[in-house]
Amino acid sequence: MIGTGYVGLVSGTCFADLGNKVICIDKDKSKIEKLNSGISPIYEPGLDELIKKNFASGRLIFTNDFKKAISKSELIFICVGTPNKQKSNDVDLSFVFKAAKEIAKSTKNKKIIITKSTVPVGTGDRIEKLLKKLKRKNLDIISNPEFLREGEAIRDFRFPDRIVIGSNEKKHFKILKKLYQPLINKGANFFTTSRRGAELIKYASNAFLATKITFINELANLCEKANINIEDISLGMGSDSRIGSRFLRAGPAYGGSCFPKDTKGLVSTGDKFKINLSIVKSVIKSNDNRKKVHTEKIKKILGSLKGKKIAFLGVTFKPNTDDMRDSVSLKMIPYLCKNGSKVTYYDPTGEKKEFKKIDNCKFKKNIKENCINADLIVLHTEWDEFKSIDFKRINKNKKLKIFDLRNLYSISEMSNKKLDYYSVGRPKIN
Ligand code: UGA
Repeated sequence: MIGTGYVGLVSGTCFADLGNKVICIDKDKSKIEKLNSGISPIYEPGLDELIKKNFASGRLIFTNDFKKAISKSELIFICVGTPNKQKSNDVDLSFVFKAAKEIAKSTKNKKIIITKSTVPVGTGDRIEKLLKKLKRKNLDIISNPEFLREGEAIRDFRFPDRIVIGSNEKKHFKILKKLYQPLINKGANFFTTSRRGAELIKYASNAFLATKITFINELANLCEKANINIEDISLGMGSDSRIGSRFLRAGPAYGGSCFPKDTKGLVSTGDKFKINLSIVKSVIKSNDNRKKVHTEKIKKILGSLKGKKIAFLGVTFKPNTDDMRDSVSLKMIPYLCKNGSKVTYYDPTGEKKEFKKIDNCKFKKNIKENCINADLIVLHTEWDEFKSIDFKRINKNKKLKIFDLRNLYSISEMSNKKLDYYSVGRPKIN
């Protein structure tokens, strides 16, 4: 496994747990040292224990020694980052190409290279071309995109809905089927297609899920104005099996390291093929605009932002991860601070470097310290520990205002408790 980020480390550890011998390679020496002493560099529930178990059994090895690792391996998975380029929607594939060149340098033998990183349509072709230039015809390239979610990654690996393998040569399907057989036996659908097909399935899946979320978020705006409960709409729509109920939860906006990056990456692929992916474009725009929707609402709730104490509960893009990438809090908090509010936040994964340099923004050690004396509490991330807070005990003196971006509480219950409660796409009960 080349790269020990979310995809490489989780997949590598889980492959080892299925009985394979796995070598995880990373150029970052401190990461490898950490892993060799049993510490995971990422926060993912259950991963530490699984790493320790498989490391102790000798099935899981961590190293910086690229050459040795490559020459010993039959299947080589590329799991490096594919960020967006700074000034465009294009995907930066430099880490992928670098990994491919390193592989070519490290062995003269026949190997199968599998891209697990999310890569745009045609990347496999480009790697093949690059290897041909290096006069390496015995390195095969296939695509096997990953569909695991942060925070649920181990479960998603063990019980995938589908395993997608893309290759232009049928012989590879048999080899990969053998590797995944334990998961296929548990019911995973083993789906084979062309290499380009597999590359596009990954982008199409993420963009479709992002579209579903954005669709329900826009309807939530409408529900608020029309005095309708968005949750009824999600349930009513979702029980049509053609639509499906998952990813129809209205919320702050989608964030994370994948949906924002991959929707833009898909638009860029469309542009390259001179195809206008107008739906995906408007999804990106609508999602970007949500920060404004929420900050306007906060302004309305508080009358003005100046001098107001606002307490955020959770700042990561979703629970069970310490990942801050493209979290809506990264846009909301600086805006509120810049406009005169004093923001405090508590997150179960600790203080965030992203907020350290922002004036008027402070980390608090627990829920109570964070919320006491706040003019408004913003429930930003749906960690379990935020789901049954006794708000009445936190702030006895004034009528507490709460803005719940994840619809964690029942509106009637909050109204009975005489709390000034606002949520997303649900009617306000006074
Ligand atoms: C996503 C996909 O779900 C995975 O299948 C994929 O493998 C992964 O990207 C990737 O490409 O690596 P992830 O970014 O970890 O996984 O997180 P999700 O659980 O999909 O959530 C993404 C965002 O959508 C979060 O901000 C979440 O809060 C939001 N969301 C999700 C909603 O607002 N409403 C929903 O109903 C579901």
